Amino acid sequence: MNDLNSGWGGYTAENFLVERRKANELARSIRLTPVDDIVLQKASLEQGMKVLDAGIGPGIFVKQLLELRDVELVGVDSSREFIEVAQDTLSPWIARGRVSLELVSLEEWLPPASTFHRVFCMTTIHHLPPEEMRKVAANFFYCLVPGGEILLVEDWAIPPSSLFEDLARRLRWYQMERKGPKEYHQDLEFYKSLLCEAGFLLAEVVSMPRPFQLEGFKGIEDPEFNRLLRLASEFPTEERLVRMVLIRGVVPHKQ
Ligand SMILES: C[S@@+](CC[C@H](N)C(=O)[O-])C[C@H]1O[C@@H](n2cnc3c(N)ncnc32)[C@H](O)[C@@H]1O
Repeated sequence: MNDLNSGWGGYTAENFLVERRKANELARSIRLTPVDDIVLQKASLEQGMKVLDAGIGPGIFVKQLLELRDVELVGVDSSREFIEVAQDTLSPWIARGRVSLELVSLEEWLPPASTFHRVFCMTTIHHLPPEEMRKVAANFFYCLVPGGEILLVEDWAIPPSSLFEDLARRLRWYQMERKGPKEYHQDLEFYKSLLCEAGFLLAEVVSMPRPFQLEGFKGIEDPEFNRLLRLASEFPTEERLVRMVLIRGVVPHKQ
C-alpha cells in the first residue's frame, strides 16, 4: 500500500495534474483523440448514474466527466496529497453533494454491494501486487449493479509496435528499477483474465495511442539509459506515442 502521505511515482499530485493536462493538450495538438475522451465515450454515461473512480488522482479526468454528465461520483485514493488536490479540482461538485472523496487504499476500501453503474480504474491497478489486484477486481464486481461496467485502463500491457514505443518502455523500466516505486505492470491477457475471474463479461478491448513525454526522464547517471534517452529524443513530437489499453467489462444480469 502507498504511504498515505506520499505522492505518486516520483510525481507530486500538483505536477501530475499539470502533466495530465499537458498530455491531453499535446494529443489534441498532434490531432490525436486524447485517451480521456475515448474512455468517456466508451463509458456511455447517463444522467444520474453512480460512478466510482478507483485511484482518482488529482481529479482531472473526473472533472471532464462531470462537465459532460450530471452523475454522482465517489473517488477513492490512498494518497492524502492527491485527495487534497482532487478536493480543489472538484470543489464545485463537492459543494453540491455530487462528489465525495475517500482517503483509503483500494486494498482496504470496503465496497458497498450493487451500488455503482460504472467503475473507472485508470492507470492505478498496476500499483497493487497481483494477489491484491484479484481482491480489488472482485470488489469492483461486487459494488457494481447488474449491467454495470468497469473501464480498466493501463499502460505497457501490449508489446511495443514501434521503435519509439520500445525505447519508451525501456526508459520507463529503467526509471522504475532505479528510482522506484515498485509497480506491477501486467500484460493484456493477465488483465483480461483478472476481470473474467472476478465475474465480468469482456465487452471490449481497445488500444489507444497517447503522447509520451520525455521531460521527466532525468537524473539517472547510466550510459545505457542516456543512450536510450538520446535515441528517443530524436523522434519528432507527433511520433512519440505509446499505446494504452482499455478493457471494458460488464456485470452480467442474473439468468
Ligand atoms: C497514475 S495515477 C492515476 C490517477 C487517475 N486515475 C488518472 O488517470 O489521472 C495513480 C493513482 O493511484 C493512486 N494509488 C496508488 N496506489 C493505490 C492504492 N493502493 N489504492 C488507492 N489508490 C492508489 C495514486 O495515489 C494515484 O493517484
